[in-house]
Amino acid sequence: MDKYEQVIELAKRRGFLWNSFELYGGTAGFYDYGPLGSTLKRRIEQIWRETYVVQEGYMEIEAPTIGIEEVFVASGHVGGFSDPLCECKNCGEAFRADHLVEKYVAIADTLSDEELDRVIKENEVKCPECEGDLGETYEFNLMFKTNIGPGTGRQGYMRPETAQGMFVDFLRLARFYREKLPFGATQIGKSYRNEISPRQGVIRLREFTQAEAEIFIDPNDKKHANFSRFADTVVNLYSDEAQERQEIEQMTLGEAVEKGTIAHEFLAYQIGLTNHFLQRVGIAADKLRFRQHMKDEMAHYAIDCWDAEIETDRFGWVEVVGIADRTDYDLKAHASVSKTELSIYREYSEPKMVTQFVVKPNMGKLGPLFKGKAKAVADALKALGQEELEQENITVTVDGEEFTVPGEIVEFAEETVKISGENIIPHVIEPSYGIDRIFYSTMEHAFEEEMVTGKEESDEEDARIVMRLRKEVAPVQVAILPLLTREELINPARSIEAQLKQKGLLVSYDDSGTIGRRYRRNDEIGTPYSVTIDYDTLEDNTVTIRDRDSMKQIRAPMDGIADLLHELIYMNRDFESAGKAL
Ligand code: GAP
Repeated sequence: MDKYEQVIELAKRRGFLWNSFELYGGTAGFYDYGPLGSTLKRRIEQIWRETYVVQEGYMEIEAPTIGIEEVFVASGHVGGFSDPLCECKNCGEAFRADHLVEKYVAIADTLSDEELDRVIKENEVKCPECEGDLGETYEFNLMFKTNIGPGTGRQGYMRPETAQGMFVDFLRLARFYREKLPFGATQIGKSYRNEISPRQGVIRLREFTQAEAEIFIDPNDKKHANFSRFADTVVNLYSDEAQERQEIEQMTLGEAVEKGTIAHEFLAYQIGLTNHFLQRVGIAADKLRFRQHMKDEMAHYAIDCWDAEIETDRFGWVEVVGIADRTDYDLKAHASVSKTELSIYREYSEPKMVTQFVVKPNMGKLGPLFKGKAKAVADALKALGQEELEQENITVTVDGEEFTVPGEIVEFAEETVKISGENIIPHVIEPSYGIDRIFYSTMEHAFEEEMVTGKEESDEEDARIVMRLRKEVAPVQVAILPLLTREELINPARSIEAQLKQKGLLVSYDDSGTIGRRYRRNDEIGTPYSVTIDYDTLEDNTVTIRDRDSMKQIRAPMDGIADLLHELIYMNRDFESAGKAL
């Protein structure tokens, strides 16, 4: 078994992850989170909220998971959110054409369908399932379609990302934040992509959880007020240029901005925050890197993009977070489709005198001439330059219709006016997290199988599986283990359980099997501390606390046990000095 299989086997057996619809044979791309998996996932999401919502102040919103067509026309998903698909002519199995040619070309996902077909033909690539011939590659849109309302209804789509909810609500958000840049909003929720052939288990899902922040910033000021927090943080950077050399560089974020490796401070701050968050939930620092999008890989509208990638045993480096400067692309796209200006008014610190070219159509004359269209015609005239206006008859196009306006009813001039502000379209910085991939990586990085001798379970050397989950994310933080199922031990054990729950700790009560077995069961699910209640407890009111990682034990008083465990879990209190060593 490779590590992926070991982790998934444990995840299934202990209630972290289950194949969805197992009762009916299952289907690829869907996983259920069991009781421990759900709890671990919520812990990760909660820390994300604490980071982005509470600390950064980007308030959370909740938009529908079904979107109307206009939203995804504007976002470009209807037109271009597709992967190249080719099917086997023999068995009918579908494949991502770019995945089939990965070993023949360097960056397969930048090739056109025609280029992919050429590589398939040149290398005589066959169906991986049955060796049959492959059909022509075509683009398959990844959005799940649905109808809104009965009958043919209105075309809807399951959202392929949470981001669009924040763009669509831009004007409301701008008002909420009193139009003061920078401001941002976040969403954590399900996204849906009808992936062609998800064969990477929990890494590529058809329904998954994203946590995204859309941060609206001043296009002319991409500094970050709190950049000093991460300026000296050293991160593993795999820049566009370093990828040519295939060499990951360690650099402080301050240096990376100074050298121009990262486009600007605001983006570098987001990389610092992502680095901080991922390590806080348990990603190993040496298995985490930030890879810059290569020029031919980056979206045309983006200035700079970095993916946080985590090294996994089976899948190599996996993208878990995308961090991008998306410029004003999204707001402009929605403004154009919705025909609504999506900008904010920014007041200058002092008013400015500026010379402006001003067009003044005579509305008294335009009205009778163009009736309901007069305002639109006037707006079109205002967008023209001097040369176009100096005609006897001026032609403008409104909604595809041409209108001819006599030049004499349109005045224009250069005027010096005092202006106290301007409308600007903010740029968007987007950190976009895939929670399921982080969840799996957290488990894989925590998973360890070690040989232990003469400890707890048997006198012989035996293997212990231990999940060294960070204490604050562990789905069970303390196991309460009465030595025997006797009333005199059960009563104090239940009383401790109640105190710990009251303190907000995640607790399990386990009284079946030998104490050694119970320790091992808890090691496997990552429980950082076990509390054993025995006959000495009845004598001196103390309990044994066992540390998962070192397997060391201390004896500590029952009084104040909840405070002590809370400090051990959340405040990094030293274990060995917290009680009497055993
Ligand atoms: N709004 C930008 C956006 O959605 P993305 O790179 O397509 O960007 C962001 O997705 C993150 O979502 C990825 O880094 C990944 O962690 C996660 N993700 C994307 N597709 C996924 C899938 N099919 N299964 C699981 N996670 C996925």
